[in-house]
Amino acid sequence: MMLITGATGQLGSAVVRRVLERTAGADVAALVRDPSKAVDLAARGVSVRVGDYDDTAALDRAMAGVDRVLLIAGNDPQRRVQQHQHVIDAARRAGVGLFGFASRSLRDIHTSKNTLMGDYFETEERIRRSGLPHLFFRNALYLDTVPLYVGGARVLDTGVRLPAGSGKVAYALRREMGEALANAMLDHGGADRTYVVSGPRAYTFDDVASALTEVSGRSVRYTRISDDEYVANAVRAGVPEHLARRFLGFYSDIRDDQLDETSSDLATLLGREPATLPEGLREVFKL
Ligand SMILES: NC(=O)c1ccc[n+]([C@@H]2O[C@H](COP(=O)([O-])OP(=O)(O)OC[C@H]3O[C@@H](n4cnc5c(N)ncnc54)[C@H](OP(=O)(O)O)[C@@H]3O)[C@@H](O)[C@H]2O)c1
Repeated sequence: MMLITGATGQLGSAVVRRVLERTAGADVAALVRDPSKAVDLAARGVSVRVGDYDDTAALDRAMAGVDRVLLIAGNDPQRRVQQHQHVIDAARRAGVGLFGFASRSLRDIHTSKNTLMGDYFETEERIRRSGLPHLFFRNALYLDTVPLYVGGARVLDTGVRLPAGSGKVAYALRREMGEALANAMLDHGGADRTYVVSGPRAYTFDDVASALTEVSGRSVRYTRISDDEYVANAVRAGVPEHLARRFLGFYSDIRDDQLDETSSDLATLLGREPATLPEGLREVFKL
C-alpha cells in the first residue's frame, strides 16, 4: 500500500488521482489533516489517515500496512525540516521499502538567494542519512504559479514587470508533475534515484510574454525592472516591505539561472511530451 502525504493539497491530489487511475483504492492511503476534505477519497476506497507532520503518534498509525510513502513537503518554513524528519522517522520505524520526496530543482543550493530552498535539500540529506530506499523528485517551478507573480489576468493589460532579467525557468504543470510522481512511485523496483521533474525547455519572461500574446491575442510585453522598483510596486499594492524584499531572493535565483535545469525525466515518466508553454499558460490563465 502506498501512503501519499499532502493528499488534499494541489500536488498531492494530482498524485492520488493518477494512482487511483492505475490501482485500486484499497491499495492507497492518504495522510490528511482535515478528513472533511477527503470525503471523495474515502468514497473511492482510499484509506484516509488523519495526522499532522508534528504528531509522531499519528504518523506511526498512518504507516500501518504501508510499504511506499510519498512525502509532499509542508509549507511552514519555520517547522518543516523537523516535520519532514518526523515522517522519515515514522517510515523507518515501519520498515517502509520506498520513500519518495517531492523536492525542488535548483542548480546550486550554496549560491541560492532564496531562503526557502534550503529546507528541501536538508530534507534530502536527512532521507539519505536514514538509509531508506528513496526517490527524490526535484520539481521545477509550477507553471501554475505564473499568474500569482505577474498579477493574474491583469497582465494582459499591464504586461509582465519583474526583476527577473533574462533568467530562464523550466516550468511544468503541477498536474503533470503529480501524474509523473505517481507513475515513478508505482513503477519503481530498483535503485535510489533523483529525477528532475521539469519541462524540456527553459523560458525567459520574454518567452512567457510572447506565449501570452499568442494565446490571448493581446500584445503582452516583458519589462525588466530593478529590485527597488519591484519592492516599491509591491508596497504600493499592499505587500509589507519585508515580505517584498524576501521575494527578491526568488527573482534573484531566476536571474541567476538557478531554475533553468531541464530534463527528459518528466516526459519519460508521463510517456508523452508535457504541455508546451502556450498550452500550459492557456490552461492556468483559463484563456
Ligand atoms: N514547485 C513549485 O513551484 C512549488 C511552489 C510552491 C510550493 N512548493 C512546495 O511543494 C509543496 C506541495 O505543493 P502544493 O502546491 O501541493 O501545496 P499545497 O496545495 O499547499 O499542499 C501542501 C499539502 O501539505 C499538507 N501539509 C502542510 N503542512 C502539513 C502538516 N504540518 N501536516 C500534514 N500535512 C501538511 C497540506 O495539508 P492541508 O491540505 O490540510 O492544507 C497540503 O495537503 C508545498 O508544500 C511546497 O513545499 C513547490
